[in-house]
Parts: sequence; C-alpha cells; structure tokens
Amino acid sequence: MTSIPSFAKINLGLRIGARRPDGFHELRTVYQTLALHDRIAVDVQPGSGIEIRCADPRVPRDETNTCYKIADRVMKAAGIGGKVVIEIEKHLPVQGGMGAASSNAVVTLLALERALRIQLSQAEKLRIAAEVGSDLPLFLVGGTVLGLGRGEQVYALPDLPALHLVVVTPPVGVATPKAFARWDELVSQEPAEERQLTGLRFARTINRSSESVLDWLAEYVQQAEIGPAAGVPAGGGDRAETPLLDLVRTGIENDFERVVFPEYPELREVRELLQREGAKWASLSGSGSTLYGVFASADEASTAAERMRAAGYAAVATTSLTRREYWSAMGTAPP
Ligand code: C5P
Repeated sequence: MTSIPSFAKINLGLRIGARRPDGFHELRTVYQTLALHDRIAVDVQPGSGIEIRCADPRVPRDETNTCYKIADRVMKAAGIGGKVVIEIEKHLPVQGGMGAASSNAVVTLLALERALRIQLSQAEKLRIAAEVGSDLPLFLVGGTVLGLGRGEQVYALPDLPALHLVVVTPPVGVATPKAFARWDELVSQEPAEERQLTGLRFARTINRSSESVLDWLAEYVQQAEIGPAAGVPAGGGDRAETPLLDLVRTGIENDFERVVFPEYPELREVRELLQREGAKWASLSGSGSTLYGVFASADEASTAAERMRAAGYAAVATTSLTRREYWSAMGTAPP
C-alpha cells in the first residue's frame, strides 16, 4: 500500500447567505490548499466490507467516517466487489476547520481509482464528493478555488502566489451546524436596515458569481496578471499581497467570525495575537477553530509560529500549495 498525502485547506474568505429550503446555506468562499497533510493508503483485498485503520482514537472507524462513506459510493459506482482497507495517518487536527476529513475522503476516492484501475469522470467524482459533504469537491480541484452553492460548486481560480502562513488550532470544538444556526439568529435579530446591508453585502458577491462567474474570473485573472489593482497603493512593494488584498476588498471576510468569536473569545484573541506577531491578514478558517495568519516571508512565519508555540499555542508555519504542486505531490495528473 503506497500512501498519498491528504492536504488541508483554509478559507481565505467566507460569506454566508440565505438558509435554503434544504437547510443548507448559500456560501461564497475562496478555498486555498495548504502543504500540511495527513496520509492515506488504500488497499482492495478479497472479501467484502470497509475497514478503517487509524491510530488516532478521535477518528471514527465506522460508517460515519467520510472515507467509509466515499469508499462505499465508489465501490457501488464501479460495480466491483472486494474488501476495502483504508489507513489514515493523522497529523491534521480532527474537526478543525481545515477540511481534513473531507480531504481524507477525496484522497480515498483517488486511491481507490488507482487500486481498482478504474477512471471515473471528473463530473462523477464531483457528484460523489458533494454527496458526502459540502467541502469535499474543492479537493478535486486544489490550489485557489472559488466555492459557491453550499460550497460544493467549485471553480479553479488563478493560483495566488505562495502564501507564508501560521496556522493555529485552539483546542475547542466548534460545531458547524450550530454556527450556521447562530448566524440565522444573528441575521434575524438585526434591525431591518442592518439586515438589508448584510443582504446587500452578500448580493454583491452573488452578482459577481451567479450572474457572471466567468466575467468575474476573467477580471480576476487579469488582475492577478497585471498586479496591483486600482485602489491598492502602488509600490506597496509586496506583489504577493495584492491578490489577497483584492479578495479582501471584494468583501469576502469570514462571516463565521461574527458568531464564533462572541462564543469563543479565545479564538478572537488568537487572531489578535497573530496580528501582533506581524500577520498581514489573520482570520478564522471555516467555522474554526483553526485560525491562520498570512506573513510577508517564510522566515517571519516560522519565527511567529515558534514564539506562539513557546507561549503555549498549537501553531505551525506552512505554505499554500498551488494546483500544480497539489496534484504533483499526490502523484496524479490534474483533472
Ligand atoms: O455538507 P456538510 O456535511 O459539511 O455540512 C454539515 C452541516 O453544516 C449541514 O448539515 C448543515 O447543517 C450545515 N451547512 C449549512 N450550509 C452549508 C454547509 C453546511 O447550513 N453551506
């Protein structure tokens, strides 16, 4: 069994829209894959069933595991029998807002394709992934990814330049469905005027996406290529910052901060600490508890991570992975 890296993601921004009749919320988010990873190995043996092996007791071995769910679907889609053995080597936080369980599932799918010598179409893989969870499909794209719908509609964005990051996962469990419920409460309690503004902020991103995703992408590619956009101080020096600033300016901050920080003030403190340590931008990832800071250089990121570890925080320095780096590290041709 050869193991394949299963990379983490962060959300560079996340806007929450209306709750839909199916209970999910409309999202606008930008995902970014990171170099931090678990490892997954898959083997198909004679027999039947799905066995999950993992040394970390927090990882479920039963049918609630995302790897189990996807393996079950792939075996059915392929119409092939056999016993699937999945080994998870855990390094990423469990339930941390870095998409580890989702990434593990997508890598299980890719590894199963290899083990069974089958090739599912990208459309079929995206469909199976979306069935298992909203933030699986992004891992079938990798790099910098736009997420729409409930987060499962994914579009490859031009890769951002390498980001030097510090990622911190405080030991608190934030339940995503509860965070969404809090968001609904918050929006429903806002005075009508405020609520309209929240709606407008979201509508701005909706217009950019549902009406003309392609136009927006074209605009984005152009900006990424020509460098500093209007409004960003020219000669601000650091070209690497520009696309990120551009993302921030389009209004894609993480809405979850408004409901998660009041409940877990220690997470807001970590964001502030990242900023004090020199992060150019710091934010919650998904619904947390992971936070990340973007630093000007790899050296600054590793110094900040060391200082934060010395102060008792689970901080690690890492970098973003472009789409090409992502697929090449997994030993697979990009879709
Ligand atoms: O799709 P996933 O399994 O990750 O979603 C977990 C839960 O988070 C959903 O059952 C739903 O309550 C909530 N959710 C949501 N809107 C989204 C994504 C998730 O309300 N866009």
